[in-house]
Amino acid sequence: MTRIRKAVFPVAGLGTRFLPATKAIPKELATVVDRPVLQYAVEEARAAGIEEFIFVNSLGKSALENHFDRDLFLEQTLEKKGKTKLLEAVREAAIPDGQMIVVRQHAPLGLGHAVWCARNAVGNEPFAVLLPDEVLVDPPCLPAMVAAHESVGGAVLATMPVAPELTKKYGILDPDGAEGADGLIPAKGMVEKPDPAEAPSNQSLIGRYVLPPEVFEALDKGERGAGGEIQLTDAIAQLVGRLPVHGFSFKGERHDCGSMDGFVKANLALGLKREELREDLTAYMRDLLGSG
Ligand code: G1P
Repeated sequence: MTRIRKAVFPVAGLGTRFLPATKAIPKELATVVDRPVLQYAVEEARAAGIEEFIFVNSLGKSALENHFDRDLFLEQTLEKKGKTKLLEAVREAAIPDGQMIVVRQHAPLGLGHAVWCARNAVGNEPFAVLLPDEVLVDPPCLPAMVAAHESVGGAVLATMPVAPELTKKYGILDPDGAEGADGLIPAKGMVEKPDPAEAPSNQSLIGRYVLPPEVFEALDKGERGAGGEIQLTDAIAQLVGRLPVHGFSFKGERHDCGSMDGFVKANLALGLKREELREDLTAYMRDLLGSG
């Protein structure tokens, strides 16, 4: 089984759900506690052994790449001032030389199209896709998916149950049997953003994928799906019957930072996990809610 070395991060979106915040600042740089949402995804990929970070970016969003550069002047300044912790944090954020690849998506034609834009950088090997809107922690999702993929191959897609009325917001898995002890759910299909009445289950796709290179064959066709966009979900569905396709039931903590409520909740939840903030934040929230 080929090791998963490459990860694609689709980051070209306009971030319209968060306007006006995203007029001048890419939504992927919106801060959850002390780091941008995109950094959570990059750290998760790193924990899974990823060595090549492929950003599918678009015009006007180069601040994204800059965030993962080294800034030697800043590092020197922090070092001189003895700000060791900050220095460490800044160094940790950087992607090492030669491990960041930026490809362009010229038009917002959909997630499937964004992933297709990375085809030459990925080449003929299995790879991961991480949607940075989704912050998945405790434990991070991708390392376990990569381990599960080693035993089944094909495509492995992270899933989590959602309330039935929310199926319209997500890709939904069509399971072909029960979840195994390893968290894997065999799949016979998947549908992008179905109405609750048409949803094959309530297992939503949560933005982490391990995919075989064959997915590019379906994406090559450029077929439009839900919302008139080229959908990654539809391309993966075309692998069913050809290669094994599994859901991977994620048991950790999920924050959908692509929605306003998810983003605000992520700041609260991850803020509360910080020892230096917990006590003060808890007291403040009690006070705010009038229960303390
Ligand atoms: C995308 C995918 C969808 C997935 C979701 C996870 O939708 O198309 O299948 O469930 O991310 O957040 P988007 O949120 O970009 O509309």
